[in-house]
Amino acid sequence: MRAITITEPGGPDVLALVDQPEPRPSTGEVLLDVVATAVNRADLLQRQGHYPSPPGASEILGLECSGRVAELGEGVTDLQIGDEVCALLAGGGYAERVAVPAGQVMPVPPGVDLVTAGGLPEVTCTVWSTVVTGARLAAGEVFLVHGGSGGIGTHAIQVGAALGAHVATTASATALPQCAELGAQTLIDYREQDFAEILQGKVDVVLDNMGAKYLQRNITALAPGGRLVVIGMQGGSTAELDLGSLLVKRASVAAAGLRGRPVDGPGSKSEICREVTRLLWPMFADGRVRPVTHATLPLAEAAEAHRMMAAGGHHGKIVLIAGD
Ligand SMILES: NC(=O)c1ccc[n+]([C@@H]2O[C@H](COP(=O)([O-])OP(=O)(O)OC[C@H]3O[C@@H](n4cnc5c(N)ncnc54)[C@H](OP(=O)(O)O)[C@@H]3O)[C@@H](O)[C@H]2O)c1
Repeated sequence: MRAITITEPGGPDVLALVDQPEPRPSTGEVLLDVVATAVNRADLLQRQGHYPSPPGASEILGLECSGRVAELGEGVTDLQIGDEVCALLAGGGYAERVAVPAGQVMPVPPGVDLVTAGGLPEVTCTVWSTVVTGARLAAGEVFLVHGGSGGIGTHAIQVGAALGAHVATTASATALPQCAELGAQTLIDYREQDFAEILQGKVDVVLDNMGAKYLQRNITALAPGGRLVVIGMQGGSTAELDLGSLLVKRASVAAAGLRGRPVDGPGSKSEICREVTRLLWPMFADGRVRPVTHATLPLAEAAEAHRMMAAGGHHGKIVLIAGD
């Protein structure tokens, strides 16, 4: 099969589509013929040599995909050859075939085509596990989504609105009208405005992609009992925290990743995939949530897709189609 490999750590040009050994499904896994995958910021870091695959995972890039079940590993009984699915991966998505634990395989959400579904597992599982399961966002609360125009942001705005929260978002000025169409009600230009000044003491849940750069301002924005969830470190990973400002608000700070979670058990990827299928897929069925795709490129143009994400200014996911 062909897959994108990294010739050596570096810029987008180190990505090359080459022949690779076929993956084999172990016990409890299935082999998928990949139809589409999508770019995640973690892929850019992995390409640069800063984010190695977890032990045992494929070294090929790609944290999500859609495709068809091609082979069942021993012990897999709840999937059938030919099923059209999407899957959360620990790696290996930038390829024509990938092996994945059956628990991380989900049906394609109702009304979504198979190519577009390749860009859904990361955003849906990340947002659901952090904002809904973790921070327990409730109807009537104020939900601040940073980076509202990105893959995560475009999805988080819709989930927040669907749950009945008041959604505030930070994005580039040109992207704010699209954020409003997705359901954001308070629109903040992150280059020109200070979100902490605008939202001071009002926010119940923050979904943060900036890390260190926004830490103290996020806490300023929190309301009493507020919950800050950090999922990205685009603004650095180390910052000073005034615990007094948390204490006085009885607020909490959490940080959570998806890739390193166990396959099974409490807090696992399989558990998240089950919850997403059961509780979020119905929101796709009735149109409360829809996929947002910025661009769809062939897998052979992965380098161009990486340049696109690094440049910013995209709106939603960048999807890669496997095969010819
Ligand atoms: N923890 C996890 O499990 C997990 C899983 C998936 C993703 N993530 C993280 O989540 C973040 C978003 O991922 P993604 O796939 O949505 O990436 P993305 O599509 O590239 O989105 C990133 C967004 O950040 C915006 N941004 C840049 N600087 C900003 C600032 N100062 N303030 C507010 N927004 C700013 C960008 O807007 P412009 O383009 O207009 O600059 C862009 O819309 C990344 O940090 C990623 O690593 C974490």
